[in-house]
Amino acid sequence: MNADGRNRLHQTPEWTALAKHREQLGEVRLRELFAAEPGRGSDWSLRVGDLYVDYSKHLVTDETLRLLRELAAATDVFGLRDAMFRGERINITENRAVLHTALRAPRDAVIEVDGENVVPKVHAVLDKMAAFAGRVRSGEWTGHTGRRIRNVVNIGIGGSDLGPAMAYEALRAFTDRSLTFRFVSNVDGADLHEAVRDLDAAETLFIVASKTFTTIETVTNATSARSWLLDALGDEAAVAKHFVALSTNAGKVAGFGIDTANMFEFWDWVGGRYSYDSAIGLSLMIAIGPDRFREMLDGFHLVDEHFRTAPAETNVPLLMGLLGVWYGNFHDAQSHAVLPYSHYLSKFTAYLQQLDMESNGKSVDRDGRRVEWETGPVVWGTPGTNGQHAYYQLIHQGTKLIPADFIGFAEPVGELGEELAAQHDLLMANFFAQTQALAFGKTADEVRAEGVPEELVAHKTFRGDRPTTTLLARELTPSVLGQLVALYEHKVFVQGAVWNVDSFDQWGVELGKVLAKRVEPALREGAQVSGLDGSTQALVAVYRGLRGR
Ligand code: F6P
Repeated sequence: MNADGRNRLHQTPEWTALAKHREQLGEVRLRELFAAEPGRGSDWSLRVGDLYVDYSKHLVTDETLRLLRELAAATDVFGLRDAMFRGERINITENRAVLHTALRAPRDAVIEVDGENVVPKVHAVLDKMAAFAGRVRSGEWTGHTGRRIRNVVNIGIGGSDLGPAMAYEALRAFTDRSLTFRFVSNVDGADLHEAVRDLDAAETLFIVASKTFTTIETVTNATSARSWLLDALGDEAAVAKHFVALSTNAGKVAGFGIDTANMFEFWDWVGGRYSYDSAIGLSLMIAIGPDRFREMLDGFHLVDEHFRTAPAETNVPLLMGLLGVWYGNFHDAQSHAVLPYSHYLSKFTAYLQQLDMESNGKSVDRDGRRVEWETGPVVWGTPGTNGQHAYYQLIHQGTKLIPADFIGFAEPVGELGEELAAQHDLLMANFFAQTQALAFGKTADEVRAEGVPEELVAHKTFRGDRPTTTLLARELTPSVLGQLVALYEHKVFVQGAVWNVDSFDQWGVELGKVLAKRVEPALREGAQVSGLDGSTQALVAVYRGLRGR
């Protein structure tokens, strides 16, 4: 039983019914499902905003989907959704509301946390960001020596890096090409070194992005960036014109030496991995301009509204989340691939890794009891067609079931010119061909009919039945990017709700942080650090030896 007296997930009749259904279905053949229902290819699709979502190539029947929706009802996914949108403290282990949806709400919306409408302050920060972004873009904001800013370096890590870095890349075609943008996250000094080595400090703006402003990687990189700047400009007063901060922690920002007038605020109800549409998106806003940024937020909001109001049968994040449950819990799939066929989305899957794996990589439920069911999958993938020449072999013919999302666009973005734009059909031909091959494979008879010698037939046979979702839009615009990200945010939400885990904390990353602080003095000074295990002690000794210490 759960604390609220309900059955634990794996004991519910809905879970048991799904397990039984899975057994009865046995090996599902997509060829048979399509033969039995000729309209499946178009009937099993949904639209949300600008996205066309094809889920026909899944190992599911109407009955599967009905049972999955019953599981969602039994686990009260929509109840938790409504509590989130109402601003309730659904992040129970940190006792916080979860309101990234408020970041993209229209100006006249009313969303309350502890009786206070947070929408006006969201828009006040957006307005302040827009004013600042405008000044940088126009050249009105100058550096310490009076030169205009040409380079923007965002220093942050995790959600304070991945979101803006991913979105900058995704929307590069919409960026101001006279400005250079770089993203520094790794505490390996090489990251900052390579980012600034060819920059002129007099033209460089550092944006220090950290929700807590205590994250060691970010504070260390920001301190080094400051030394680099002061070495070049030789005047402490330069910091005010070359450093701004994005944070919830004004005290720490001031302590670092950044004027809080140059701080853009957000709030504890914005999770790090849900934050790039808050002040954390400042670098992106400078790159694409406030209007495009608003278009992106409106895209997010459109999908928020869809998730909040669409019935279960047509609710796309619900469907995507439940399909993941189907494979992860009833087919033993361990991972999920996200494969964008857009070079601009080269960082999209890396972004989703934090969103999904930091959210649902949990092994206790919301009552603190060990789960007895699988939770979040390993999320991975890179843009097609590169993956086709690397790991697709395993997806096609390996022994593991890997459900995949294919994301593609009808139009190329930007000014590619005629010849490069013409390559788009080839890109998308690969896109469609892959999902076809994954779903329907190639039978031994088909292989034989091509005259393949018998000893090679098994090697050249593809079983198929590799499930995929196809997400198709006309073009990768700011709005479409917002729609896509919101879709995945809510998909992750649905899965966390079903698995009854707190998707909004991240205690798993804490231990490593604490231990790193303990090990560092041992590396430098050879101090006898208490609490180091035998293996770590030996490794520290080898490391010190290699460094000649
Ligand atoms: O990795 C843990 C984490 O807390 C993430 O959730 C967060 O996005 C990242 O560190 C950075 O945190 P901050 O923005 O506070 O520097």
